[in-house]
Amino acid sequence: MNSRILLLGATGYVGQAFQRVISQKGGTVVALSRSQADYTRFAPLLRVLREVKPDFLVNCAGYTGKPNVDACETHQADTILGNVNLPQTIAQACEVADLPWGQVSSGCIYAGGKVVQPDGSVAVEKDLTRPDLRRIVDSEPGRIRGFTETDTPNFSFRAPPCSFYSGTKALGEEVLHGAPGCYVWRLRIPFDEVDGMRNYLTKLQRYDRVYDNVNSVSHLTDFARACVELREVGAPFGTYNVTNPGFVTSRQVIQRIVETLKPQRQFTFWESDEEFYRVAAKTPRSNCVMDVSKLLSTGVKIRPVEEALKDALSRWIPEKK
Ligand SMILES: NC(=O)c1ccc[n+]([C@@H]2O[C@H](COP(=O)([O-])OP(=O)(O)OC[C@H]3O[C@@H](n4cnc5c(N)ncnc54)[C@H](OP(=O)(O)O)[C@@H]3O)[C@@H](O)[C@H]2O)c1
Repeated sequence: MNSRILLLGATGYVGQAFQRVISQKGGTVVALSRSQADYTRFAPLLRVLREVKPDFLVNCAGYTGKPNVDACETHQADTILGNVNLPQTIAQACEVADLPWGQVSSGCIYAGGKVVQPDGSVAVEKDLTRPDLRRIVDSEPGRIRGFTETDTPNFSFRAPPCSFYSGTKALGEEVLHGAPGCYVWRLRIPFDEVDGMRNYLTKLQRYDRVYDNVNSVSHLTDFARACVELREVGAPFGTYNVTNPGFVTSRQVIQRIVETLKPQRQFTFWESDEEFYRVAAKTPRSNCVMDVSKLLSTGVKIRPVEEALKDALSRWIPEKK
């Protein structure tokens, strides 16, 4: 790889993964933080593009809410600025500079999945925890299909209820419709082998009680590598779901954690959605299954979810106390 890549949001969780992957592939990363130049504004960003002259830009900057997505409900202006205005500003600057680029988006704009019915038709179901659907998830997983890139988001301001975060991520994709030279990469619940508060596998181990649901998830390095490789193979610009193929339930992941890491503690689960939202969460959470056929059709490879999870847990690096 012989590219010079301008990386926005390089200080963040996802940005650091891109930095590692691009460097490992022999590319040059020019990491830009708002503390060096305010890339959220058009004029300073365009100035940087003209000075740095990158071959490609990766945007990992955005507003995710700390300690979790509930914070977006109380910091709505920051959430809009980070997730809607910022991608639009980058699109405009990149169009002027004639620079191809990629935006890290999210699968959190969907809820549920598709269920193949006995007559072969397919029904969209927003809540796969419903007991009859959950039985299908557990005993006939082949009947569960994911959302494709052509499906309209069903967990957004246009299809409420949604979290404020998810609403802005869906709008952040809308403002990029028709943007030339732009990839939109959808990440979903990142995890890897490095213990840390942003890692799904760590979160599951630290929750007092676990919320059992059904999701597609993305190994963080697999995600960043697949995004970079989409450009390397010359895949058409546009939107791509970038998760490890398949889906998992939180219970299945906990079971793997228990078998592999043998933690001291016992895990308990929220009795129901109703109890989880009453006690532990302020805003609805997205849980969904994604279809990655479009990504795989480009020739870019990504491991099945079971393999990626097993590998991450077998190479687990506990956080230093
Ligand atoms: N982590 C997840 O679970 C997850 C899942 C799906 C999608 N995503 C998406 O992936 C992208 C990166 O997420 P992340 O988890 O890496 O986030 P993060 O750790 O919070 O990092 C985001 C970076 O964005 C920059 N930034 C620019 N404008 C900002 C603003 N208004 N508020 C806060 N930070 C701002 C900051 O870098 P500087 O100030 O140094 O420039 C910050 O380090 C986001 O678009 C997010 O929606 C994340």
